Amino acid sequence: MSDKITTAVIRSKKGREKIVALTAYDAPMAVLLDEAGIDMLLVGDSVGNVILGYEDTVPVTTEEMLHHVKAVSRGVKRSLIVADMPFLSYGVDKTSSLLNAGRFLKEGGASAVKLEGGTGVAPLVAQMVEIGIPVMGHIGLQPQSINQLGSYRARGREREEAAALLESARALDAAGIFALLLECVPRQLAARITEAVGVPTIGIGAGEFCDGQILVTHDILGLGKAGTPRFVRRYLDMNPLISSAVGEFVSDVRNGGFPSPREGYDMPESELEGLR
Ligand code: KIV
Repeated sequence: MSDKITTAVIRSKKGREKIVALTAYDAPMAVLLDEAGIDMLLVGDSVGNVILGYEDTVPVTTEEMLHHVKAVSRGVKRSLIVADMPFLSYGVDKTSSLLNAGRFLKEGGASAVKLEGGTGVAPLVAQMVEIGIPVMGHIGLQPQSINQLGSYRARGREREEAAALLESARALDAAGIFALLLECVPRQLAARITEAVGVPTIGIGAGEFCDGQILVTHDILGLGKAGTPRFVRRYLDMNPLISSAVGEFVSDVRNGGFPSPREGYDMPESELEGLR
């Protein structure tokens, strides 16, 4: 396939071509998604609830994220890799925020980072961009703030909150982001934001007017304990496939059906003689 996708390539797609993004957390899945032509792979902090067994994304650490970003980097040839900055890895102070963001590029092999927040994080985003760290913004539902929000409902349905989100989108655009993730906002608001900013908007539960779409890979594959929010389209139902394959293996081993002689190694007759 064609050349490596850079943040500049993603920006240049606005208004020309829809951007396709998915989450990735490990090398074998990253290989498949990369080969399938996904433009952008987000190593999301959703790794916390999708893979690591946490309730939400709050406990995820920088070291855990780096572990997964490195794995994804090993599998990817073409897609843009974006590393999600976990809760409290940014925003505590400027130095640690910039150093943590830099680690995802220097050690992890990502080409960009994503962080949650609007007008409040815009100055920090500008500092990252200034020193050469491409940033994707993330507004709307911000799962890292679940302890403040109390629920994962859609954001920006009322005029005041919608206006604040529009202002955040403009502030992040001015700060130099290369793309903006919109999570769980009304379709009409996503359309307004998409018009208002110069960078591509990537929606999850944000409707059809965004410049691109992202979903959690495990959700579209029906893999793991993921629920099915209304914005997820399930393309496969892997859980029952895995259960039935594993169930067959269990009964094959228990009833002596596995392994067959062909699934083992033979010793030459002459060597066996010597052993006797
Ligand atoms: O971590 C994640 O998976 C996300 C989604 C909104 C794509 O940020």
